[in-house]
Amino acid sequence: MARVLCDPLVPLECARAALAGLDVSVESSTPPWSGDDVVGLLSWEPVTAADIGRLPSLRVIATPSVGVDHVDVEAATRQGVWVCNVPEYCVDEMADHALALLLALVRGVVELDRSVRAGLWSHQAAGTLRRLSDVRLGVIGFGRIGRALASRAHALGMDVCAHDPFVSDDEISAAGVRPAALDDLLQGSTAISLHSPLTPETRRLIGSRELALLPYGAYVVNVSRGGLVDTSALLEALESGRLGGVGLDVLHVEPPSRASPAPAAPRLVVTPHAGWYSEQAEAAVFRRAAESIHDVLEGRRPRDAVNEPVPQG
Ligand SMILES: NC(=O)c1ccc[n+]([C@@H]2O[C@H](COP(=O)([O-])OP(=O)(O)OC[C@H]3O[C@@H](n4cnc5c(N)ncnc54)[C@H](O)[C@@H]3O)[C@@H](O)[C@H]2O)c1
Repeated sequence: MARVLCDPLVPLECARAALAGLDVSVESSTPPWSGDDVVGLLSWEPVTAADIGRLPSLRVIATPSVGVDHVDVEAATRQGVWVCNVPEYCVDEMADHALALLLALVRGVVELDRSVRAGLWSHQAAGTLRRLSDVRLGVIGFGRIGRALASRAHALGMDVCAHDPFVSDDEISAAGVRPAALDDLLQGSTAISLHSPLTPETRRLIGSRELALLPYGAYVVNVSRGGLVDTSALLEALESGRLGGVGLDVLHVEPPSRASPAPAAPRLVVTPHAGWYSEQAEAAVFRRAAESIHDVLEGRRPRDAVNEPVPQG
């Protein structure tokens, strides 16, 4: 019987329910992926070109996430394999999370809590606090999540501008947000939040040059992918006092390890890639990813494909 492999984070009962009625066995597995009988892969774990080469019957890779940077999409496309993501399952959660990190930095919430736990009782324990309505927020990447954050920021009285090379200035303006080139956004923002995908073009989009353009004491929030930012430059800027605070939901290496530990510094707030998570989002993401596998195995075009596989001769 053909097999669909799921990484261990995927609840098997959910994948089995979505694939019920198909003549496939749904199994838990870990990389490196291989097997002549594997027709589908549901994975948050990396899927490399070598993995895809070891799966000659593979027809679809579905990832329970928005980002597909852990999948070699080009290799899949060449081998005639669909790659599917789940684009809309956590837009509100992600915008809420980015805002929560920004609020925590602007009002020193985490830092003040740490100080009370350490036995202090001082309103200045987190340094200078600010008014949210004084924040000039620069949103980098004006897609689903960037827009949802911008509308929240607007509602809270923040001045918002956005940079997105693939969204027209008119579309950004229509959302009540000022369009800006990246350098102008950096020079004019007292906080930035990153919402672009991780691609070869956006890797290290924010490095030491870009951080130096921000006004002194600015905040940086990254809930999208660790690779968008040069982490060493970011931590250096924080430690030197150039940045007023950093909020991260994503790291270069996840989970952190002894070789690549989670950063810890004053005015740094880190959450464990939890921005997407709510009970509703969790239920939706695995079901939707498994439904894409169901579509392909039944010969239909999947709803959320990110590629157009090359027909195999
Ligand atoms: N931490 C988490 O739990 C979590 C959850 C969901 C999504 N994410 C991340 O958030 C990212 C954004 O998600 P989304 O749903 O808003 O995606 P989206 O595709 O709707 O929007 C991404 C936007 O980024 C823009 N973009 C591309 N290249 C850019 C560049 N060089 N500079 C600026 N903008 C650029 C695109 O034009 C697009 O408008 C995902 O790619 C994913 O990596 C993280």
